[in-house]
Amino acid sequence: MTTMTLNAGSAVTAGDQAKNPAAEQSVVKTKAEILKTVGKPLCDNAKLRMRNVNVYYGETQAIHNVSLDIGRNEVVAMIGPSGCGKSTFLRCLNRMNDTIEGCRVEGDLTLDGEAIYGPKVDVVPLRARVGMVFQKPNPFPKSIYDNVAYGPKIHGIASRRAELDEIVENSLRRAGLWNEVKDRLDKPGTGLSGGQQQRLCIARAIAVSPEVILMDEPCSALDPIATARIEELIDELRENYTIAIVTHSMQQAARVSQRTAYFHLGKLVEVNDTETVFTNPEHELTEAYITGRFG
Ligand SMILES: Nc1ncnc2c1ncn2[C@@H]1O[C@H](COP(=O)(O)OP(=O)(O)OP(=O)(O)O)[C@@H](O)[C@H]1O
Ligand SMILES: [Mg+2]
Repeated sequence: MTTMTLNAGSAVTAGDQAKNPAAEQSVVKTKAEILKTVGKPLCDNAKLRMRNVNVYYGETQAIHNVSLDIGRNEVVAMIGPSGCGKSTFLRCLNRMNDTIEGCRVEGDLTLDGEAIYGPKVDVVPLRARVGMVFQKPNPFPKSIYDNVAYGPKIHGIASRRAELDEIVENSLRRAGLWNEVKDRLDKPGTGLSGGQQQRLCIARAIAVSPEVILMDEPCSALDPIATARIEELIDELRENYTIAIVTHSMQQAARVSQRTAYFHLGKLVEVNDTETVFTNPEHELTEAYITGRFG
């Protein structure tokens, strides 16, 4: 492992090397090499393909040249210190960044080979295919039932009451909330506890049978029992779906994901099989993070 940081400005130039032959011997990386992600960022059966993604908030660049595939039936965990760009990157995948004033996304992003940012893409069906669960639960100001039934209704997945009832019950069961709410389905979703609201939002996300689910720290407001239920659900959903999950819990990343992506200062430093990332990381920055030296 080298002692280089990701700061491109610290790269030694060819001119410097000529003046200092010792530097030539040392492991000096060029800017392009420093930006390169180590490990296995790409895969053969990609559902989502992201290439050379740059994201800006006004003048400030938050994501630098990130390329990553997320495979079918795969869970990819995204980890890294606060502010490194995990949420920003996740939001690119279903164009949630479109809703943030001054946010600009560059690069090639495809879902099943189709451009996510294509001029003809309608974001409403896109967000049904690529659902999202946010860190802070955001139930609609509607009943528990309607929170879950809303998506299937507007996307024409179900219209008859019996069909909707079945989707609502099934989604709430899978999110581990059914038993707590089955007798109060007509009560407001906002009247639930924080952890219950989060499970309601997860039920709402899966009710439209998305192909991809993006989860941004979905368990940060949940107790260990609800967390275990959601982790089981993630494993179950993987049989049919593709999942990207941001988490601050390395144990959770290790439990639910097949590959783990480590972000640092807006750059994707390393992507590897989850076990490799946590037992034998390739990059020193990943190692520093997982051993708790920063983050
Ligand atoms: N709406 C916004 N406007 C301006 N800058 C933003 C906005 N959202 C995020 N940023 C900046 O972009 C960078 C990445 O933020 P992001 O929220 O993606 O990080 P994160 O890895 O999800 O952090 P955390 O673990 O704390 O959630 C940060 O420097 C942040 O300040
Ligand atoms: Mg975040």
